[in-house]
Amino acid sequence: MKREKFSSRLGFILISAGCAIGLGNVWRFPYVTGKYGGAAFVLIYIFFLLVLGLPIMVAELAVGRASQKSAAKSFDVLEPKGSKWHWYKWGAMAGNYLLMMFYTTIAGWMLYYVYKMASGQFTGLNADQVAGEFTGMTQQPGLMTGFMVVIVLLCFGICAMGLQKGVERVTKFMMISLFIMMIVLAVHSVTLKGGHEGLKFYLLPDFGKLQEHGLWEAIYAAMGQAFFTLSLGIGAIAIFGSYINKERRLTGEAISITALDTMVALIAGLIIFPACFAYNVNPGEGPSLIFITLPNVFNAMKFGNVWGTLFFVFMFFAAISTVIAVFENIISFATDLTGCSRKKAVLVNIVVVIVLSLPCVLGFNLWSGFQPLGAGSNVLDLEDFIVSNNLLPLGSLVYLLFCVSRYGWGWKKFTGEANEGKGMRFPGWVRGYVTFILPLIVLFIFVWGYLSKFFFH
Ligand code: ALA
Repeated sequence: MKREKFSSRLGFILISAGCAIGLGNVWRFPYVTGKYGGAAFVLIYIFFLLVLGLPIMVAELAVGRASQKSAAKSFDVLEPKGSKWHWYKWGAMAGNYLLMMFYTTIAGWMLYYVYKMASGQFTGLNADQVAGEFTGMTQQPGLMTGFMVVIVLLCFGICAMGLQKGVERVTKFMMISLFIMMIVLAVHSVTLKGGHEGLKFYLLPDFGKLQEHGLWEAIYAAMGQAFFTLSLGIGAIAIFGSYINKERRLTGEAISITALDTMVALIAGLIIFPACFAYNVNPGEGPSLIFITLPNVFNAMKFGNVWGTLFFVFMFFAAISTVIAVFENIISFATDLTGCSRKKAVLVNIVVVIVLSLPCVLGFNLWSGFQPLGAGSNVLDLEDFIVSNNLLPLGSLVYLLFCVSRYGWGWKKFTGEANEGKGMRFPGWVRGYVTFILPLIVLFIFVWGYLSKFFFH
């Protein structure tokens, strides 16, 4: 069967960017940046995007385009006979499912908050009551399951409509709306009275602040964030390479995708930090930042309901653009491996993903006694840790080594694919760096991160 292609280059860029742009940009990036002290951390993060993220994204796209398959089959197609690279398909597939196992729940929270903001349910509540709303939600497994199921049905429903008619059409619309909402929100936020302190925190590097949690921990967090935000290492981006033709070289495309992703993260910071400082809220709150602290900020604002609703719609679009992209991967695993139809893959996976998403929901309430990563942690933390700190960096290493090693696909074939078409070439002079230094950096920071997380604390 001939593989369906995107209808336009813009579609490809926006969908890949939609896969990258997600909770990582609008939820994780602001609170991680808040925790590690603002601008200095942002610099390290951008450095990692350039030296780590970009080459790996080119590698993934090249593997996808050359194999014309998802991660479930791409290594089988490209690897030298007798080698075992295809074993990583299990890692890649597990990574996509694991990511969705907590993503669907948080996307459900976003939808719930759109509804609560729009119906004015936060109006008049004090800070404790706003916090109570969040805790109240996490204590209701039925409610959270309901919203999670809506997300799963909605996003698989869009995928069921097909690559061009569903995924491409809907994601294009959402991404363009997201950019417009983002600009409106950012302009509003930076013009708030008292917001300039937030801008200072966010834009003026203070390297002293980086040391608060230890420099290595900050570097590790920046690397993890760079992988997470670009969805690298699990083939999630690779698949979109299989939906394009060879008209454009891949380096330029990877730069466009990374630039869009970075822009959204940076602007999300411009929305959040000035607002936090204008209303005396600590931006280093952690994961609950946008659910507990920001509704207070909106409460204190003129037309807070309107701004709050717009903000959560923005978050919701960012989240489900990633869910749709990863579901497209999940569907393609099934069709590539078994040859079944898209509809059948959708139906089976609706059930699978709903069941797999339940532990995350239950981890907040019925299973809250299970604290796998130390006191106060839950299933979500464990799933996030397995994906972000393990599968993404190690998977990125697999893609990288596959592309540069003569025991894998090899440098010549990789650059041959990456450089087909018009646009920027993958620079030949980076070969030594990409082959010898980059894998070591990933490995080193990965190991160090483990040591400092579990032993040096
Ligand atoms: N890249 C996705 C995000 O940032 C996973 O949310």
